Amino acid sequence: MERDFVGKKEFPIKCEIGRGLEGAIVNNTQIGYVNGKEGRLCYRGISIEDLAKYSSFEETAYLLLFGKLPKRDELNGFKEKLKVSRSIPQGIVEMIKILPKDTHSMNLLMSAVAALAGYDKESQKVTLESEKEVAIRIISKIATVTAAISRIKKGKEVIEPREDLSHAENLVYMITGEVDESRPSLRGVDEEISKAIDMALILHADHGMSGSTFTCMVIHASLSDFYATIAGGIGSLKGPLHGGANERVIKMLQEIGTPSNVEEWYGRERKLHHKIPGFGHRIYHAHDPRARIFKEYCHRVATTEEIKNLLAIAERLEEVEIRELGEKKGIFPNVDFYSGIVYKALGLETSLFTPLFAVSRVAGWTARVLEYMPENRIFRPRAEYYGPLKQEYIPMEKR
Ligand code: CMC
Repeated sequence: MERDFVGKKEFPIKCEIGRGLEGAIVNNTQIGYVNGKEGRLCYRGISIEDLAKYSSFEETAYLLLFGKLPKRDELNGFKEKLKVSRSIPQGIVEMIKILPKDTHSMNLLMSAVAALAGYDKESQKVTLESEKEVAIRIISKIATVTAAISRIKKGKEVIEPREDLSHAENLVYMITGEVDESRPSLRGVDEEISKAIDMALILHADHGMSGSTFTCMVIHASLSDFYATIAGGIGSLKGPLHGGANERVIKMLQEIGTPSNVEEWYGRERKLHHKIPGFGHRIYHAHDPRARIFKEYCHRVATTEEIKNLLAIAERLEEVEIRELGEKKGIFPNVDFYSGIVYKALGLETSLFTPLFAVSRVAGWTARVLEYMPENRIFRPRAEYYGPLKQEYIPMEKR
């Protein structure tokens, strides 16, 4: 068939890129590395296991953005910038309030983040120096917006951020609004929940060229502003094939009901060729290391009968899925499989699960955009046209 190719390259280019850009490399990076064969993940060379054990979200975000572990004064300076940027304009709160009550939290988050551009005088400069500062403000404010969405959805008052708390503690405080005065050493915020959220924020902060990361890079490479960029990333992350899977997992486990139902339920789903939420990954064909960490954590927080039951169902389902597809197709649990059980055990509502992913991944999104900026080039791939090349225009009355 005749091809209508134009451009400075010889077309068609022969290369092995599968559907969904499988195998395509879009840039060079020093930010993070995913080894899908061995099930390894590191940020700037440091293993995710070590970061989950020893780091904090603030330190991890600094590492991703600036390429090294911060010294004490660098970390303090970074934390300070995050703290002073926490509040959000009342206009954003009002905007969330006037949208329909059943609007998906991720749609609310997208809209609010896009609208924040109007309140940031530097947002339209789009220089490397200004974008570094804008990135820090977005990382800070997205947590406040997420908490505000949670409160408004529950019909509760929005809680102002506090500057004496860490990023995770403040997030938990703004969501729950609970201050336990009997625990002054914890500044009133539940330590167990804050630690778990801090760990979850570290685990989700970056993951190679995921769909949402690529979306951010594509948007920003046209020199669009950072707020529009992150809003786009949130839109991509929302999908059930990406970050939205964590919500689906909990619904699925609740639908299964008990561990003894797993085998029959699974057989039915497989007959229908349904993909099981929380399993599989484009890059991992081994255990996702983040899923292992979350699974371990599930055992620590599973204290109620409800959570113990969800965990037992999940573990049974993992066994069955691995038995059927593990070695055969390289299908193993991914990060979304156990994270929801942890959030649920902490008392967080399901509609918060994917926004929490965004609160974390914004660190990776901004780091990768900033890394690409000095040698920015707009993304402009092609689609291979296979429709007719010459077709007569038929007037309406003759169609
Ligand atoms: N359950 C059963 N089979 C599966 C699953 C699954 N969850 N995932 C993939 N497969 C099978 C699929 O049917 C296909 O089989 P065949 O070759 O016989 O047609 C093969 O594995 C390859 O699947 P694919 O859909 O071509 O793989 P992909 O790289 O395009 O998709 C994925 C990756 C994550 C979208 C997919 O595995 C999936 O839909 N998983 C469920 C949703 C999910 O958990 N998403 C979260 C991903 S991790 C966190 C994040 O990045 O946000």
